[in-house]
Amino acid sequence: MKLIIAIIKPFKLEEAKEALSQLGIQGMTVTEVKGFGRQKGHTEIYRGSEYTVDFLPKIKLEIVLPDDRVEATTAAIVRTAKTGKIGDGKVFIFHVEEAVRIRTEERGAQAV
Ligand SMILES: Nc1ncnc2c1ncn2[C@@H]1O[C@H](COP(=O)(O)OP(=O)(O)OP(=O)(O)O)[C@@H](O)[C@H]1O
Ligand SMILES: [Mg+2]
Repeated sequence: MKLIIAIIKPFKLEEAKEALSQLGIQGMTVTEVKGFGRQKGHTEIYRGSEYTVDFLPKIKLEIVLPDDRVEATTAAIVRTAKTGKIGDGKVFIFHVEEAVRIRTEERGAQAV
């Protein structure tokens, strides 16, 4: 199993969700977050030297899924979340050790 964490622009959430639903994704967690990338939201020069870093609103998607679904899922997120402009976001992929469905106590791939 893998965990995909994707940070995307908020207005892309519906489109991404739609594409993921069509891929048969069984579950995901969505959180409103704030962050910055290389442009640091935007940078202001203040009195010649000081600057402020602004956090911009983003959406974080967390999806745990079998290894063989990672590539198609990542591709769907990239395809739907991309505008080609700065701030489109990132996809991070992690190994998942274990999962438990609390209701049934199923474990591993059966639980996701
Ligand atoms: N290295 C990172 N670690 C954790 N979160 C990150 C990282 N880089 C980006 N993010 C998250 O993704 C959001 C969007 O990042 P963004 O797409 O602006 O990255 P970037 O590297 O600046 O790329 P671009 O040049 O296309 O803007 C950030 O607001 C932040 O929430
Ligand atoms: Mg950026």
